[in-house]
Amino acid sequence: MFAKDKIIERIVRVNQAGEIGAQRIYNGQKFVFKLFNNKKEYEIFSEMAQEEKEHLDYFNKLAKEKNIKPSKLAPLFDIGAFAMGVSTALIGPKAAYVCTEAVEEIIEQHYSKQIDQLDKIDTDLQKKISKFRNDEAHHKETGNKNSDKSHPILKKLINKTTEAAIFLAERT
Ligand SMILES: [Fe+2]
Ligand SMILES: [Fe+2]
Repeated sequence: MFAKDKIIERIVRVNQAGEIGAQRIYNGQKFVFKLFNNKKEYEIFSEMAQEEKEHLDYFNKLAKEKNIKPSKLAPLFDIGAFAMGVSTALIGPKAAYVCTEAVEEIIEQHYSKQIDQLDKIDTDLQKKISKFRNDEAHHKETGNKNSDKSHPILKKLINKTTEAAIFLAERT
């Protein structure tokens, strides 16, 4: 396999795992907000979840076309992310926004790195990831606007968890 293909394979695999995680976090939060009849947050998180679905659908399709196997840890991300969504939303809306902010700032950096890597390798994929990065930056801002800088330790913890998940997904 060419080095180029290897880079693309790695990118698709880690992003597919990441977008599964994103989808599950938002679904966990939506589940809690629905349970507690919190219409405002339910709507805001549904909107972000809808964009995550677009991201995940794209990487799923690409993985299928290119015959790229999912990360072996995908089932763990699935469960872990849902738990993270549920638990942050149970602490309260502010903690849920802290979670969004913490995850999305790491994903924004992660996508920026990939956009650089894809220079002269795959401009279609590069364009898509640029679009997704803008969505993630927008999610980050929504989190930032509503989190009131609360729960700083939780934020650090989620930053680190997200970094660890990326590290693992790139290698499994
Ligand atoms: Fe996403
Ligand atoms: Fe996002």
